[in-house]
Amino acid sequence: MSQPGRLVLASNRVPTITLPKTEDERRSQSVGGLVSAVRAAMDKRGGLWFGWSGSSTAKPAERPKITNIGNLQLATIDLTPEALNLFYAIFSNRTLWPLLHSFPERVVVRHDAFRAYQRVNKRYAEALFSLLQEGDLVWAQDYHLIPLGAELRKLGWKGKIGFFLHTPFPPAEVFGILPWAKQLLEELLQYDLVGVHIHRYAQDLLDSMAAEVGGKITDNVFSSGKASVRVGVYPIGTDAEAFKAWGEEAEIELAKGGKRQPRKEKIIIAVDRLDYTKGIPERLLTFEHMLEHRPSLRGNVTMLHISAPSRARVPEYAKEREMVDQLVGRINGRFSEKGWSPIEYHYRSYNQRELAHFYREADVCLVTPLRDGMNLVAKEFVASQSKERPGVLVLSRFCGAAETMKEAIIVNPHDIEGTAAAIHQALTMTSKERRERWEALYKDVRTNNAVAWSESFLQDLAKR
Ligand code: UDP
Ligand code: G6P
Repeated sequence: MSQPGRLVLASNRVPTITLPKTEDERRSQSVGGLVSAVRAAMDKRGGLWFGWSGSSTAKPAERPKITNIGNLQLATIDLTPEALNLFYAIFSNRTLWPLLHSFPERVVVRHDAFRAYQRVNKRYAEALFSLLQEGDLVWAQDYHLIPLGAELRKLGWKGKIGFFLHTPFPPAEVFGILPWAKQLLEELLQYDLVGVHIHRYAQDLLDSMAAEVGGKITDNVFSSGKASVRVGVYPIGTDAEAFKAWGEEAEIELAKGGKRQPRKEKIIIAVDRLDYTKGIPERLLTFEHMLEHRPSLRGNVTMLHISAPSRARVPEYAKEREMVDQLVGRINGRFSEKGWSPIEYHYRSYNQRELAHFYREADVCLVTPLRDGMNLVAKEFVASQSKERPGVLVLSRFCGAAETMKEAIIVNPHDIEGTAAAIHQALTMTSKERRERWEALYKDVRTNNAVAWSESFLQDLAKR
């Protein structure tokens, strides 16, 4: 594949540089699809990755701190506590996140937060600009950094800049709720290429540009008269080979006996960051409904529910956590018997190798967000399965993954009875049907992996 120039990636969150020192740090490590997939792609290609250090301090250094990890050079800067609150906690996570996921009632509108968002992007651009060399391909990631390209242009950067949005893009009437909708869309016009996961989001983004900025759309290129941008569809993938190898490793360990013992009951697994977009309460209520209406499941099926801590200081996330804790407690209290509890709940993060081991042991994986840009857990689960006895994926129609993963059992997570029936179908599916569905899913997951995603975006960017 062509290597058009050094890749310079910018995202607010970057991979953690230092290994966790204590068990508590390990349990609360930040996780997310952006870092997982981009890391898988960047590790092979190498380049510079710029972003927030994860720390805040009253007087951050102006110049980024450089650390080398393998093929990658990480350049990070600290934020002030004020910037962390206004830019990250409020504008990124309480304004843009709910807006982009179509939760308009949760959108917080604060002018001070928007100003801080613009200021931090300017500061990021200045720090990044000092590291750029002619010929670099700059690729900004996600909703935290929409203005970054425009700020780099103001500083005089003439090279290529791409942008990828890892979340959904909502219909124009929802995006229009934001008082700064037009400004953000105009900032997107400063990129050469904007990528999203699926066709629906590309169409909605182009519609918003036409409605707010005014201009014309020809073959996915929006032109306002002053500027134009191509909006392309690039479904993100996972490092399928790594998950396959880790899955096989789990099977070998289980066969050997030793510490890990196969479980006697069936396992339904669910893994997500603890986020209100993921539909966790609905999922728990669905499982409760099943236990209530199908007593034969009691003692024979366990839900292994992994909730990775996320944005814990943002009030909506703290509330969601409380709600989930209460539901888990109620359901376990209601149905547990000697030697069996319906939900094994882990509020903590695991590394991906550990996750692959859990995925491999599961019979069914529930990926049931109310709205999700892509959802990598769905792809990781498929990649980790055994060819002979694969598990079944139950997938929400409201995530980007549903556009291609048609052989999963597709559900509407708001419909508790309907989803319960789908899970029952998954638990009782013949091994022939499981294998047929899995083979089709795996073919797509293996081909459209993380490297294929980044290479196709970068090739298109280099051509612009
Ligand atoms: N993840 C992880 N450890 C955990 C839980 C999740 O490393 O304990 C990773 C998971 O492997 C996946 C990512 O976090 O790659 C979640 O990505 P996804 O696209 O499913 O959702 P997002 O968190 O980006 O909304
Ligand atoms: C999602 C977003 C990422 C973000 C991640 C974790 O995957 O698309 O941009 O990094 O969640 O969230 P956090 O707020 O911890 O960075």
